[in-house]
Amino acid sequence: MFFDPYVFAKPFLHSLDPEDAHELTLCALELGVVPGQPRGDDPVLATTLFGRRLSNPIGLAAGFDKNARVYERMGAQGFGFVEVGGVTPLPQRGNPRPRVFRLPEDGAVINRMGFPNEGAAAMESRLRRKGRPGIGFGINLASNADSADPADDFVGLARRFAPYADYLTLDVSCPNTANGQVFQDPARLADLLARLAAVEWGAARPALVAKLSPDVDDALLERLVTTLLGARIDGIIVANTTRARPADLRGARAHEAGGLSGTPLFGPSTAMLARVREITAGAVPLIAVGGVASGADAYAKLCAGASAVQLYTGLIYGGTALVTRIKRELVALLRRDGSPSIAEIAAR
Ligand SMILES: Cc1cc2nc3c(=O)[nH]c(=O)nc-3n(C[C@H](O)[C@H](O)[C@H](O)COP(=O)(O)O)c2cc1C
Repeated sequence: MFFDPYVFAKPFLHSLDPEDAHELTLCALELGVVPGQPRGDDPVLATTLFGRRLSNPIGLAAGFDKNARVYERMGAQGFGFVEVGGVTPLPQRGNPRPRVFRLPEDGAVINRMGFPNEGAAAMESRLRRKGRPGIGFGINLASNADSADPADDFVGLARRFAPYADYLTLDVSCPNTANGQVFQDPARLADLLARLAAVEWGAARPALVAKLSPDVDDALLERLVTTLLGARIDGIIVANTTRARPADLRGARAHEAGGLSGTPLFGPSTAMLARVREITAGAVPLIAVGGVASGADAYAKLCAGASAVQLYTGLIYGGTALVTRIKRELVALLRRDGSPSIAEIAAR
């Protein structure tokens, strides 16, 4: 039986402010004192994302490793790919603390961090020093909260980070900063994509992926996705956190402002994924994120049209043993349904 130290660490970590607990977790990962998960993935879990082979389709979502401090450790924690960031051009402090709240009764978190991060130069020097991880690698890009030209921020970041990753995510869906959602205007999104299309990438062009908000109505969603496809985006991530508050939330902090993630986001983000799949009709890979806390959740996302799945909030409640459990359960579900591989489900 595999010993899971998170069973003992969790009560202590959850007695702390969530951000302090997170900082301790990052320090422990940096120091190499977090035991790895069992190694080796069942071959049925292998798939390909943006031309890169993944040994499994489970990824670490943006926001966990905002400053690229521990990404190289995530393969040992069982992930098939990892997304660092959101990184902005200049360092920024984000919103005043407290700004992250656990809703344990709901398996959820509310955050209004507003992209605190050390900025692009600090991230780039870490990436240069540590190199790529041995797993799939994405970098999540965002504009500075007080930027006069958010599109210019994205273009500059994309040029800067192109040589370092398999894919770059345009986070055009952050609910927590003044200009986090300006690109939910399809005209402005089209302008951003045109400016990116004009970049001379040379050999280093990574896949460009857009991350969408679940807080758009169907008509706007269709316009945004059509705009993305028209500009030859390489992939779409569905979805970011939501400002919505389901009526049945039980957590005492449910009234806090910010983006809700975790279990209550599973239903809405999976329905949105199915809709995006319908609009895109398989034209680009979709990465599904939102409330994944079991193999069945991940399987539902894959069956709804995702090529790969990410998670963050599930780790706060389950630790990285959750990644191992999800993979084990996924293998059982694939066998049950006679599916030969993840890649085959994604291609359906
Ligand atoms: C504390 C926290 C910080 C986050 N920061 C970012 C971020 O910087 N960029 C981003 O695109 N998404 C960010 N997210 C959103 C996650 O990547 C993910 O889309 C969302 O949490 C839903 O997945 P989950 O339910 O598995 O957490 C953050 C989420 C949390 C909880």
